[in-house]
Amino acid sequence: MSFILAIDQGTTSARALVYDAALNVLASAQEELPQIYPADGWVEHDAEVIWSLVQSTVKSALDKAGKTPSDIAAIGITNQRETVVLWDRETGKPVGHAIVWQDRRTAETCRKLKADGAEPMVQEQTGLLLDPYFSGSKLAWMLDQDRGLRTRASKGELAFGTIDSFLIYRLTGGKRHVTDASNACRTLLFDIGTQDWSDDLLKLFNIPSALLPEVLDCADDFGTTDPSVFGASVPILGCAGDQHAATIGQACFAPGMVKATYGTGLFAVLNTGSERIQSKNRLLTTLAYRLDGKPTYALEGSVFIAGAAVQWLRDGLKLIESAPQVNDLANRGVRGAITLVPAFVGLGAPYWDPDARGAIYGITRDTGPEDFAHAVLESVAFQTRDLLDAMARDWPEGERSVLRVDGGMTQSDLTLQLLADILDAPVERPNDLETTVKGAAYLAGLKAGLCPDLETFASTWQKDAEFTPHLDEETRQFHMDRWHDAVKRTLTTT
Ligand code: G3P
Repeated sequence: MSFILAIDQGTTSARALVYDAALNVLASAQEELPQIYPADGWVEHDAEVIWSLVQSTVKSALDKAGKTPSDIAAIGITNQRETVVLWDRETGKPVGHAIVWQDRRTAETCRKLKADGAEPMVQEQTGLLLDPYFSGSKLAWMLDQDRGLRTRASKGELAFGTIDSFLIYRLTGGKRHVTDASNACRTLLFDIGTQDWSDDLLKLFNIPSALLPEVLDCADDFGTTDPSVFGASVPILGCAGDQHAATIGQACFAPGMVKATYGTGLFAVLNTGSERIQSKNRLLTTLAYRLDGKPTYALEGSVFIAGAAVQWLRDGLKLIESAPQVNDLANRGVRGAITLVPAFVGLGAPYWDPDARGAIYGITRDTGPEDFAHAVLESVAFQTRDLLDAMARDWPEGERSVLRVDGGMTQSDLTLQLLADILDAPVERPNDLETTVKGAAYLAGLKAGLCPDLETFASTWQKDAEFTPHLDEETRQFHMDRWHDAVKRTLTTT
């Protein structure tokens, strides 16, 4: 009984990994999650499909590892954040599709609340901004669509949760309606100072408190799996939103440490320790994690499109057959030949323009597929630079260390070289690129007493490669200026 099962329910897939107590991976399984696009700017998931993918990937990972559920000492869960599920407490059945973090349908609601002057209070309490990205306005939208749902919500018949919460509800056979502080802090309903749901925010979004889950630490007792699910009672002991789990997996435990994860989007998280920095540069103040009741804060830059632009090259433009081919194609391209602003679902930090849409500048007759590929990788570097610059302005006195990167795109050496060039700073890739899911496994192992304390865990972090800048300042500035000019032309707001 010294193995850990980690579940990673991301935006585009469900994954399960089996670890030993030293956090070596014994086996993994992954299945793609179908996306539902009912209208322009709308993105949904079928929570029943998510549940069935989680079950099947867990079974397959256990089979591959030659383990049974009884061999598992603890389960850790990590998940796409902000995505909203509303379900019936009695049956556990979702009342409709989950509304995904990328969904923009509540842009108008957020605009109105902003115009009414609500943003300073929202930022003060949650560290977030009024943007459709977060859960609050999405949940309000669901309740506003159907009067019956609002009545049932007020009577306590329904439950709200982010994906972690829904999965734990299902895994425990409906016995636990809980979430962790890192997921709660992305809902726009949670006060990161008091570490509790905020009455002001529930009132602002007209959300009945009867819907809300109990908020626990990231390493905590989230309940045990119902025997009907996997055939055994296994404790769920770790839970964190994916970017928080990646921060843990990257061992960014000291103030000043910063990681960037390149998945569907790009999320940079700077640990600011016990200090809660209120951003003046349109970043988010968020929890890095909460352990033993003690919050560790962070500044976060959230960018909605990174790896998703590589998917666009593959599935939309059909310029590559598989994502890794982007490296070779882009290698034949030229720096700055064209500039892509990947505002496919609006722009996140630091611009926050939900109505912006993607744009490409500088196309000429000799622009080719390789230039599109190069521009996709460069757009990731430019966006990261914007985030790190904003972090430096928000926390000038904070010591920042080398950028640790992870996520699928970081397999591309060219991406990381372009990143180091544009950041004018070294970039480090760890040996283990699966830092998100490793973070979830570590949290579960920590609570189970299988994994060592944070400091010892941090000492096991190993570097696979370091990329150092090779670009002169004048050229770097030239390309940043072109990027900012392209963004300016793309924004719908000034
Ligand atoms: O905030 C959204 C984020 O949690 C989604 O992450 O890895 O699914 O792109 P990912």
